[in-house]
Amino acid sequence: MKCICNQIVFVFFGLFFVLTLYGDVDSANITCNLLTDDSIWRTKTTQSIDGDADKIKTSCPLNSSERKRIKIIGTIKTLYEDSLQDIPNLVEVDFSEVGLEEIQPGTFKNLPQLQRIVLQDNNLQELKTGTFVNLTAWSLQFRRSSISTLQPGAFQNLSHVYELTLRKNRLTEIRKGVFQNVSIRVLNLENNGISRLEQGVFADLHADNEVGISLWLSDNRIERFDPQVFDNEDISAVNLDNNAISVLRPGDLKNLPKLRFLHLSGNKIKEIPEGVFNSSGIEILDLNDNKISVIANGALDGMTSLSSFEIHHNKLKEWDSGWLRGLPKLKIDASYNYIAAIPEGSFVDVPGGSAVILAHNQIRNVSDGAFAGLTSLKSLDLSYNKITEWKVDFLKTVVIEEFVDLQENKIRCSDMRSDLPVLRAKGVLFGTC
Ligand SMILES: *[C@@H]1O[C@H](CO)[C@@H](O)[C@H](O)[C@H]1NC(C)=O
Ligand SMILES: *[C@@H]1O[C@H](CO)[C@@H](O)[C@H](O)[C@H]1NC(C)=O
Ligand SMILES: *[C@@H]1O[C@H](CO)[C@@H](O)[C@H](O)[C@H]1NC(C)=O
Ligand SMILES: *[C@@H]1O[C@H](CO)[C@@H](O)[C@H](O)[C@H]1NC(C)=O
Ligand SMILES: *[C@@H]1O[C@H](CO)[C@@H](O)[C@H](O)[C@H]1NC(C)=O
Ligand SMILES: *[C@@H]1O[C@H](CO)[C@@H](O)[C@H](O)[C@H]1NC(C)=O
Ligand SMILES: *[C@@H]1O[C@H](CO)[C@@H](O)[C@H](O)[C@H]1NC(C)=O
Repeated sequence: MKCICNQIVFVFFGLFFVLTLYGDVDSANITCNLLTDDSIWRTKTTQSIDGDADKIKTSCPLNSSERKRIKIIGTIKTLYEDSLQDIPNLVEVDFSEVGLEEIQPGTFKNLPQLQRIVLQDNNLQELKTGTFVNLTAWSLQFRRSSISTLQPGAFQNLSHVYELTLRKNRLTEIRKGVFQNVSIRVLNLENNGISRLEQGVFADLHADNEVGISLWLSDNRIERFDPQVFDNEDISAVNLDNNAISVLRPGDLKNLPKLRFLHLSGNKIKEIPEGVFNSSGIEILDLNDNKISVIANGALDGMTSLSSFEIHHNKLKEWDSGWLRGLPKLKIDASYNYIAAIPEGSFVDVPGGSAVILAHNQIRNVSDGAFAGLTSLKSLDLSYNKITEWKVDFLKTVVIEEFVDLQENKIRCSDMRSDLPVLRAKGVLFGTC
């Protein structure tokens, strides 16, 4: 018995050894495609390069003037300074899932036509100073590549970038100087472990056009919205969903004069004080899934561009007419809160044509004058509440463009019957009673 076990163990280790050895031998095939005059990529050559970066060049006909794209399948651990040099009109490289561990600075120099660099799913631990200097690439993809360090100047003078994505790496901090003089549309740093952003880190980014810069920072561990970090007048969108921000302070947005989209859902915010958002040009404000129970009066004053105010899944207890003074028509989603009553005059300052979603709250009591002053709404969703009494008078003066949803309440059937036509809505959804 013992003897057989030993043999099995021996065979097992033998196999393991062979597999490991085999895995260590870099083997790779490379394909070079050429773009023809009719804009179709055709495969020119596919050949084995045995993990030897020096052979990358020989995969493409160096004397042809057509635009080229190269893709490697297999393993190649290091790209050297001259691995790609002298390939004329190289426009795309796809080195994803090739076990890449190192890119030496200079690899991408003198490649003025290079538009797309795909290096995702690799084992790069750091991107070194000067590696992507002076490029004018449209897209740089580094998703899921185990990157934990970005050396200063790794992306210096990068221009005309549509998207640089470092999503799903192992970054915990981003230091100032990494993005020196980078002109870009979208910088994606989502899903890392970032807890520290050095002040000034985004200061040297430039927008490539009037749309501005979008910063994607969701799914990190950022605890503070620091105005010295978010300090760049070209930034037009910031996504900080699923971080650990607990406090918003007056002046937090003061260095983002062109901010139009702000996503802060899935944080730990408890309160919206005055002086954070008021008078900002934000169009979409997403505060879903926080712990907000207090919105200061005037907190949203002067937000003349706001078109969507999302605050579902929070801890609001009462609808307050002071929240929405003087705003343009907008979509308000305050579903999944704990709002218990709609008091008199709740909507006096809600602009006509807005969509109001108050589904999944605890509303029992709708005051007679709850909707007083309101002349029109796009839609009103009060479904999944505890409303017991519904008076047709409630909405007598209001034109509803689309629908009123009262499903899943406790309204008596007798309240719903013949007066329906009085509601000037295209549809009224009562559900069962
Ligand atoms: C390009 O190089 C190939 C060999 O790599 C050769 O056969 C061909 O004649 C060359 N063409 C020109 C235009 O130089
Ligand atoms: C390279 O191509 C050869 C021939 O098509 C194939 O047998 C080999 O498995 C390929 N190697 C890799 C790493 O894809
Ligand atoms: C980048 O471009 C500038 C200006 O053309 C040049 O001075 C500099 O040497 C370049 N840097 C590298 C690393 O190629
Ligand atoms: C920023 O980069 C652009 C494009 O590479 C270059 O023309 C410009 O001179 C650089 N500016 C600075 C201050 O380095
Ligand atoms: C960036 O561009 C500027 C201006 O062209 C140049 O002086 C500087 O050397 C470049 N930076 C690098 C690291 O090449
Ligand atoms: C915004 O709020 C701050 C802080 O309360 C206040 O000083 C400022 O005047 C407000 N701005 C406007 C335009 O309402
Ligand atoms: C509803 O609230 C109003 C005041 O907001 C109060 O006068 C009325 O009694 C309440 N009705 C019920 C049924 O609780």
